[in-house]
Amino acid sequence: METIQAILESKLRPAVGDSGGLPVTVQAAQDTRFGDYQTNIAMQLAKARKANPRAIAQEIIARLDVAEISETPEIAGAGFINFRIKSEALATHFASLVSDPRLGVPQVAPRKLVIDFSSPNVAKPMHVGHIRSTFLGDALARIGRFLGHSVVTDNHIGDWGTQFGMLCLAWKTIVDKAALERDPIGELERIYKLQNERCKSDSAAMDAARAELVKLQNGDAENHAIWREMIRLSQVQFDTIYRRLDINFDHTLGESFYNPWLKDTVNELVQKGIARESDGAICVFSDSSVPEKEDPFLIKDENGWKPSPALVQKADGASNYTTTDLATIAYRVREFAPDEIIYVTDGRQQLHFRQFFTIWKRLHPDIAVKLSHVWFGSILGEDGKPFKTRSGDTVKLADLLDEAEERAFKVVREKNPELPETECREIGRIIGLGAVKYADLLPNRQGDYVFSWDKLLSFQGNTAPYLQNAYVRIRAIFRKAAEAGITTQAGTVNLTEPAELELVKKLAQFGETLPAILEDHRPNLLCNYLFELANAYHSFYEACPVLKADEPARSSRLALSDATARTLKTGLGLLGIEVPERM
Ligand code: ARG
Repeated sequence: METIQAILESKLRPAVGDSGGLPVTVQAAQDTRFGDYQTNIAMQLAKARKANPRAIAQEIIARLDVAEISETPEIAGAGFINFRIKSEALATHFASLVSDPRLGVPQVAPRKLVIDFSSPNVAKPMHVGHIRSTFLGDALARIGRFLGHSVVTDNHIGDWGTQFGMLCLAWKTIVDKAALERDPIGELERIYKLQNERCKSDSAAMDAARAELVKLQNGDAENHAIWREMIRLSQVQFDTIYRRLDINFDHTLGESFYNPWLKDTVNELVQKGIARESDGAICVFSDSSVPEKEDPFLIKDENGWKPSPALVQKADGASNYTTTDLATIAYRVREFAPDEIIYVTDGRQQLHFRQFFTIWKRLHPDIAVKLSHVWFGSILGEDGKPFKTRSGDTVKLADLLDEAEERAFKVVREKNPELPETECREIGRIIGLGAVKYADLLPNRQGDYVFSWDKLLSFQGNTAPYLQNAYVRIRAIFRKAAEAGITTQAGTVNLTEPAELELVKKLAQFGETLPAILEDHRPNLLCNYLFELANAYHSFYEACPVLKADEPARSSRLALSDATARTLKTGLGLLGIEVPERM
């Protein structure tokens, strides 16, 4: 079904006529005192034509026929055109929405998206830094699929690099087999740290590690088997976390998968004149095609702009992260033919992505694939410093999830002393994991956020438990209705109270919010939408009795409640968050 926004836009377009290429769009109003939707097209046209915006708005309104859906549009401020949706139109809209399995979310023109996310590193525990990539990437994948796009998820595991020289050496000399059984990644992390320390102070150990790396790179059978085993053990632990968080990948093609193409990638860059030798290494420099400020191969210091080339082959002949990413993108384009590739990593990798996207476009100016680096800030402790354990170590994701479940369990137990422990545990699991995911998805991703147990587990405010509780309370109304033998008259829509109309307007915005989220990769917009929806329901519930109302109000209000519960559940589901039936 069409959204109200889309209906208004389709009526606005002919009234605007030739917009000179400006997009003719309508937005839900931020401040609903003056209307429900608005457009700033008159102001934009006025700017382009150096004309009076209010006069242009007047002309547009004169040609506009929206009587079927909106009260007479009004001009406000510098030239906004405001629309107030008629109650009858809201009722009609709601009647289709409540029977729509997609809850009013339109089917968009499908695109093929590859999403590269999570991507932890072998032999290292997944830490809170990987949390945001995992949750953001998963939410984008779920939203993309719900909208009707074809989504390929790929976990680009860090399974290759110089660290494997040290790891092979340590495996042969200092590994504790029993510890490896118990906690493989913990033991791999321990031996890596120890070996690294030894190599720093002992050049013979350093040489030995290098020799192990060369053997591995040359295909030595023993080292190859050790390396494979380290990947296998790490993957088992990653999979445990993914299963727990209900995260799924279509592919897990680690960095090493692309090794066969690395030499060719470098050769192609050199042949096409994109990369050249510099001090024995092979690098890509600026081609001066963009202003200095935008050039990822330049850096500014007190003496002005200096070259900041991207390395694609080190002086010792080894390739690196950039070479691998170039081989990876070539593979993805060949294999999946995507319209867009989305990379979800922390903000410190921005330069890497700007450089490698630019190199790719120089290599293949003819291939139209949108490349998006979806980056995010850090998680901070309540002291405002990077989030650490009390002893100062990085927080392991598995420990964090354990603590979330335990804390939520205690709250549930306290609230429901009559429920059996296993049920409290299950509800605690849903609330705990949901709270952690939501806290991570809610802030604007490009900022840092402070991790606070009290805040994220609170039943008040913009949190997952608040939204889950809103859902649970609506479900309780339906249980009570069933107990009282109340049946609803399906299809009854009777909207009289302002709070009912406000709730319908919010429900109608679900289908307008989701497509916008994928445009700039911001699941936080969905969090905010769900919070507004829960608040609109709360106001409605305060103002309008549901079960105690007479017909047809009762059936209509039950339909409003049902649509709200389904939208909350679906929306949270798109963020990877479950809802309990009671809590
Ligand atoms: N393994 C990397 C890290 O932990 C992230 C990889 C992101 N994906 C990519 N294609 N570069 O930082």
